[in-house]
Amino acid sequence: MPGGNTRISNFERPHPIYLASGMGAYVKDVDGNSYLDFQNNFTALIHGYGHPGVADAVRRQANLAVSFAGPTVTEVKLAELVVERVPYFDQIRFTNTGSEAVMMALKAARALTGRRLIAKCEGAYHGNYDVVEANVTASPRNWTEVEQARPEHSGVAFSALSDCLVVPFNDIEGTRKILEGVADRLAAIIIDPLPSRIGLIPLAADYLAYVRDFTRKHSALLVFDQVLSFRLGYAGAPLPQTGYPDLCAFGKIIGGGLPIGAVAGSAEVMAVFDPSLANGPRVHHSGTFTANPLSMAAGLAAMADLLPPDFQRLNALGDRTRTLLAAAFASAGVPGTVTGEGSLFRIFLGSEPVSSYADTFALAQDPRLKPLLIRMRETGVSLSPIGLGAISTAMDEADISRLGETLETALRSLKHQWRV
Ligand SMILES: Cc1ncc(COP(=O)(O)O)c(C=O)c1O
Repeated sequence: MPGGNTRISNFERPHPIYLASGMGAYVKDVDGNSYLDFQNNFTALIHGYGHPGVADAVRRQANLAVSFAGPTVTEVKLAELVVERVPYFDQIRFTNTGSEAVMMALKAARALTGRRLIAKCEGAYHGNYDVVEANVTASPRNWTEVEQARPEHSGVAFSALSDCLVVPFNDIEGTRKILEGVADRLAAIIIDPLPSRIGLIPLAADYLAYVRDFTRKHSALLVFDQVLSFRLGYAGAPLPQTGYPDLCAFGKIIGGGLPIGAVAGSAEVMAVFDPSLANGPRVHHSGTFTANPLSMAAGLAAMADLLPPDFQRLNALGDRTRTLLAAAFASAGVPGTVTGEGSLFRIFLGSEPVSSYADTFALAQDPRLKPLLIRMRETGVSLSPIGLGAISTAMDEADISRLGETLETALRSLKHQWRV
């Protein structure tokens, strides 16, 4: 394996930590070291590790069959459970990843509108689909020409980039300038209501109202990417009724830790995938492992154990976490910033306000962040390489306190080197 593993997101020098097992809020590496894990597989494991319902469901399903060519009853049950929870979902189709879900939603938008342009926010990550793989890590060198999408990684199709417009998140005037002249060619705007790479800052109500209005007025689709943010509540990210999207791509938590993605929306829009229609579906969607029974069974068990009080508890722990982390920075005497909502949080070194991608970009470059995260991990607490964490239902107040104490101790031990 080039680099020694398969995901760039967890590569590090000299080598990443190879994991062996997990239970509750903890993981163990192959050397037997234990970590309080706030990564939860990039936020997907909302119940942490070894949830008994999920483990049983997977075992039971594995004894029956791990995959089939035909659909299953479990697929119907998971579809019903999710659709019943979200007021703007009538129908759903499953995929294997969040990236595929985004791809399907955007193909649907093109098929329904007959248009080619997709607008995405600068810095937003939407997975591995060419048209939205532009400007994920945009840097000051192209801020002055932000409307011109740039390839992020060599290998992204240049033809796809000519279909991508990049707009500034939460900036109505900046977005208006870019979209104004192209409204009749716009298929969709894709928005993440809590974009992690933009700084885990929430979508502003006036920006949502603007994009909802603009897309409706110009017959384009408003697509939400809730792959990460579906964990914010029982019905996904909280939204005003006036801001409901036409289509939503999501995944992660609904698979109970197994591979999954989904796209859902109104019956009218979802008809674009319907093979029972006289002229067949306008978007062809299949896949050998799509709606595989293991993911469906794990997802059903995980989601059935997530009722409104569970989200209330998770989100209250999240509020408490953000308070404790901010207090840890203050008490160590090192300027820091904590962002996030619900059960998600992100830490930055530096106290400049984080309200845009440019703010986040500046703080995320801080060379002290990586040694801080490594020091925390050496004392047994693991966050993602960008300082993002997700709380699971397996965690409690004691785990959150340990996180705060670990941050404070790490800051105190490093601040002399940093000359704060
Ligand atoms: C907002 C968002 N969209 C899309 C994706 C891609 O999902 P997946 O990794 O399941 O392909 C991610 C993954 O982290 C994400 O956070």
